[in-house]
Amino acid sequence: MVNELRERARSVSDSARVAIALNILTEEGLPHFHRLIAENLGSRTFWNNWNNLWTAEEDRHGNVLRDYVRDSRLLSFSVLERLQFQYLRSGFNPDWGGDPYKIFVYTTCQEKATQISHLNTGKLAAQEEPLLNSITQRISQDEARHFAFYMSIFKEILVRDPNQALLSACSILPSIDMPGISIINFNEYADVVRRSGIYGPRDYKRIVEQLISIWNIEVLQNLNDLGRKAQDKIMAIPARLEKVADYIESRATAKSFRFDVVFGRILQLA
Ligand SMILES: [Fe+2]
Ligand SMILES: [Fe+2]
Repeated sequence: MVNELRERARSVSDSARVAIALNILTEEGLPHFHRLIAENLGSRTFWNNWNNLWTAEEDRHGNVLRDYVRDSRLLSFSVLERLQFQYLRSGFNPDWGGDPYKIFVYTTCQEKATQISHLNTGKLAAQEEPLLNSITQRISQDEARHFAFYMSIFKEILVRDPNQALLSACSILPSIDMPGISIINFNEYADVVRRSGIYGPRDYKRIVEQLISIWNIEVLQNLNDLGRKAQDKIMAIPARLEKVADYIESRATAKSFRFDVVFGRILQLA
């Protein structure tokens, strides 16, 4: 059994391996996120029930991927262990100023981003390794449910407290701090993932467009001055993200990458 698994895993591309490494590290950053939710929503409120359930579900994501990688030998496990240790040790402290609305905007975006990332990573490896694809699809379905939850909460907040909600959304949406930002060489991982068509600035732009539409931001009425200004700013974000994506793509030239976690092999990407 395990020999067949290793045999199939052998033909998985190095780009897909880099993406799996990043996805695992992101998932394994769970202690940061459990803490942030508890700090921002309170650990002695009913939100604690949600935080515990969500944490239990997210914990499985990191675990199943780690088990897979260990058994299939898809990555250098000892390097992965050291990266995970470093990532947890370096912490993650986005400046949300204790604003609970911001956490719902952030988690909504982040759940959608991970949904896309897991799904596309699996697709990239699907031909060689259908088992890996079915694992990432299953994780992606969880992320879709998490997205639906956070998205609906913020939609309700917009109905009840639109001016403040728009201000919070306006401070998060222009560019979210990716959860893995403190992973060593994070930008290199993100670059490989973008070049491989798994997740990039264009995907983030689509997420923001989708949220503007589901949250009915364009048509919100009866706002005060600050609320209207925040509404206008949010409506201008997709065009700016488009420019950022154009800029990144126009400057990118063929590049070689090397990751210890992918056994130090050289990846040459267009
Ligand atoms: Fe997850
Ligand atoms: Fe999730």
